[in-house]
Amino acid sequence: MIESILITGANGEMGHGLIKKLSKLKNKNIICLDINDVNNQIKPLVAASINGSILDENIISLINDKYKITQIYHLAALLSSKAEHSPQLAQDVNVNGTLKLFNLAIDQAKKNNHTVKFFFPSSIAVYGLNGLKNKNLAGKINENQFCLPETMYGCNKLYSEHLGRYYSIYYNRLSKNYKPGLIDFRAIRFPGLISADTLPTGGTTDYAPEMLHAAASNELYTCFVNENTILPFMIMDDAIESIIKLMSTQKDKLSKMIYNVGSYSVSALDFKNIIIKYYKNAKIEFSVDLKRQSMVDSWPEDVNFNAAMSDWKFSPKYNFENSFKDYLIPKIRSQYE
Ligand code: SER
Repeated sequence: MIESILITGANGEMGHGLIKKLSKLKNKNIICLDINDVNNQIKPLVAASINGSILDENIISLINDKYKITQIYHLAALLSSKAEHSPQLAQDVNVNGTLKLFNLAIDQAKKNNHTVKFFFPSSIAVYGLNGLKNKNLAGKINENQFCLPETMYGCNKLYSEHLGRYYSIYYNRLSKNYKPGLIDFRAIRFPGLISADTLPTGGTTDYAPEMLHAAASNELYTCFVNENTILPFMIMDDAIESIIKLMSTQKDKLSKMIYNVGSYSVSALDFKNIIIKYYKNAKIEFSVDLKRQSMVDSWPEDVNFNAAMSDWKFSPKYNFENSFKDYLIPKIRSQYE
């Protein structure tokens, strides 16, 4: 049976980028699972597109019976603002859904007698710095600092990371048949991501891509965080490259299961200023939503990604200036004009 790669949340902005890359691999099928039908551009690249929820037991067991899955990219999740509005749903999808995928990976590993590589996108939301008087004095946060999330999404992501580590090493340890390493879990804590193709939905770092897409379509944008809000960001293309790099690194080169990545740390005003360079008539205002502001205020202004750089040679291609000049603006112009 041909080996398959399962991608959940395949129709999101990260799923599209990943499918374009992974579909180039020979001798591997891509199986998509998403509550929405994958779009027509992506459909020809995948072997099967399953419409449904990761919480649906029937779908998960159908996938288990029908395919030989060697890699899972589990992208399906509720983002941070949506999760804050619906914490129970966030728990169901972001944690219980992830648990179902771990169990599927275990079943596949046992059935086919191989390790299942499992990629999990985590987030800067796992950090919580509101306890600090002056957050910018914290500097670049490494993976072990300030893991005290203040959002439901951050809690869900941090707990799922722990589950990934648990399932990789300790799962079933009291059984006679205990065998560690059925799952090879790898996670990246992403900063805010900006894509030229699609807009995210339900996130809180969304103000940056929303500001850009509004300017490109000549619409007024009212930014919900204050102009001095600084957060780390990177473009989707660099995020996709980082996933491909991490997943193709030999396991013995990895000193961690969970890595920070990043590229630049900028303020909301920096975004406005660079967008105005390309769209002179852009109408961008600020009107702070104090609740969403308090969420981003708990996240670090910058992260330390030295471990990713040294273990698997992570190196973002685009800095702030050239991510706009060479990537976002040309792609967005071709879309809107
Ligand atoms: N970008 C995510 C969000 O805003 C956080 O990682 O929800």
